[in-house]
Amino acid sequence: MYDNWEELENSIQNCKLCKLCTTRTNIVFGTGNKNADLMFIGEGPGADEDLQGKPFVGKAGKLMDMAFMGLQINRDEVYIANIVKCRPPANRNPEDDEAEACLNYLRNQVILVKPKIIVLLGSVALKNILGKEYGITSSRGKWVERKNILYMPTWHPAALLRDENKKIEFWKDLKQVKQKLEEIKEV
Ligand code: URA
Repeated sequence: MYDNWEELENSIQNCKLCKLCTTRTNIVFGTGNKNADLMFIGEGPGADEDLQGKPFVGKAGKLMDMAFMGLQINRDEVYIANIVKCRPPANRNPEDDEAEACLNYLRNQVILVKPKIIVLLGSVALKNILGKEYGITSSRGKWVERKNILYMPTWHPAALLRDENKKIEFWKDLKQVKQKLEEIKEV
């Protein structure tokens, strides 16, 4: 583990810890406020993210932007990262060995950001962070506290594109997050 961003970011340059390195264009490390109270964790880069080297800049990102707008949260206020930093081919889910190889980067990011709240976007983020026994359908919308961090699992924004009903639940979950964030700031 590194105790500063520069060393951490240097350590991921030319990463070859898993096979995704052979097909990636860019490593998508993470963006946003490195001292954020609120962090979002997605699954892995898609085609647009792979090309631009930034998380959530494609279709799912547009939905995130709309959610941020609705919540009156500036994207620059939060920190956004993914379980895997390189695009899985054809947008398949990251495989266990890939997530395993990549997770220490994310753990290190969490240690450096020190967020109070982490939103887990979808099943891949949920299972890799809180454990395989968690299912997104039953866990979404419910806070889980671990080591002084509050986790809110919710739908991955890409799932909203496939099922309109999930939009309402996603919005409900994010409203809870906004409310909690305000409570924390008042303390
Ligand atoms: N989906 C994700 O999980 N992460 C991204 O960065 C983009 C799409």
